[in-house]
Amino acid sequence: MKKIMTVYGTRPEAIKVAPIIKALEASDKFESIPVVTGQHREMLDQVNELFDIKPVRDLNIMSKNQTLNGIVAKVIAGIDEIYAEFEPDAVIVQGDTSTVMGAAVAAFNRQIPVVHVEAGLRSGDINSPFPEEANRKLTSQITKLHLAPTAESKANLLRENLPEADIVVTGNSVIDALLEAVDRPVEFSDPKLGEALGADKPVILVTTHRRENLGSSMENIGRAVATLAQKYPHYQVVLPAHKNPLVRETVLPHLEGLENVLVTEPVAYAEFTHLLKASRIVLTDSGGVQEEAPSLGKPVLVMRENTERPEAVKAGTVRLIGTDYDRIVDEVSALVEDEQHFARMANAVNPYGDGKAAERTVAALEELFGVGKRIKNFS
Ligand code: UD1
Ligand code: UDP
Repeated sequence: MKKIMTVYGTRPEAIKVAPIIKALEASDKFESIPVVTGQHREMLDQVNELFDIKPVRDLNIMSKNQTLNGIVAKVIAGIDEIYAEFEPDAVIVQGDTSTVMGAAVAAFNRQIPVVHVEAGLRSGDINSPFPEEANRKLTSQITKLHLAPTAESKANLLRENLPEADIVVTGNSVIDALLEAVDRPVEFSDPKLGEALGADKPVILVTTHRRENLGSSMENIGRAVATLAQKYPHYQVVLPAHKNPLVRETVLPHLEGLENVLVTEPVAYAEFTHLLKASRIVLTDSGGVQEEAPSLGKPVLVMRENTERPEAVKAGTVRLIGTDYDRIVDEVSALVEDEQHFARMANAVNPYGDGKAAERTVAALEELFGVGKRIKNFS
């Protein structure tokens, strides 16, 4: 059996590799070896627990206010020892975090084939998202098998002259995870969340964490959310706060004392999908939320200047609004006040996947190792 090591470190990676790890576990052609870097701690463990995944090794690298170089250095040094110990036949990385770039470089240096899940996303601006656009481009250069979520991401790779034979369009595994999680019965572990949703007020769901938004942009986000909560008291704002202390210090002071704003700890993934489903408007700078919300027919306002996920923008469900205070207030107000505008955006579209990304991934791996054939691309 070929040994496939999946290396991941943050919440979104954990969510998106979970269906793939499960599919590898079910395969009789592969041995699955999940390893975590621990770039995130609570937010990572929460996902592994939900999907019942027990990593065989944990580099446990997280520290408060960690730096990019600190993360990459610890990942490369730590994962190199794990590669030496297990001698995997291939290493799977997912996305564009520092864990991904470090683990891919370390695998390449040991001549272990790199399999890149969610390959080919490009914003076109090397500084935004920072450092993710660079991480994903660097990773593509040393990847053996590119698993592109969409035809558009495949086209990005072809434009960079990467070999077409090494690219498979799988759909994004986040949709596999979403479809599974949203069907689970859940009880909110934070009773305030259950109460807030039970009150029957329309919900504005807010998430923010992007490194390039830290500072004045995140101040704007905090101020704009406070203004909106005061302007629309019949709405409930829910903001599950990212664990990054810099995010909390910047955004949360603006929201203190507002009765219709609920700030929670990171919400466990299955609960979060239910929260998303129960929301009316989504305001976010997250990558994963941009992919999930359209599937549930939720209008998404993305607080960024650009996106590497143009598919839902084209479908009309996602709007890029940047981080200007007035613009955020105006864009949310338009959705609250203009029913037709809301209806135009509230379309359920599935440009990111059909729930079979994990199956296509395992089939692509089988072909890589000459023990099976790829299945039809996602289109
Ligand atoms: C990282 C990724 C980003 C991804 C995001 C998902 C990089 C450079 N950034 O950004 O691409 O979108 O994860 O959320 O790889 N912390 C905790 N507990 C946790 C998680 C984080 O305390 O479970 C705190 C720590 O103090 C840590 C800080 O948050 O130092 C920032 O975490 P880090 O992984 O460096 O950056 P993110 O902004 O989370
Ligand atoms: N998410 C979650 N709980 C939360 C907030 C988000 O489970 O409280 C999930 C969300 O559904 C999505 C992922 O976390 O799948 C996105 O993570 P994040 O925004 O941290 O990172 P990004 O996708 O921007 O890299």
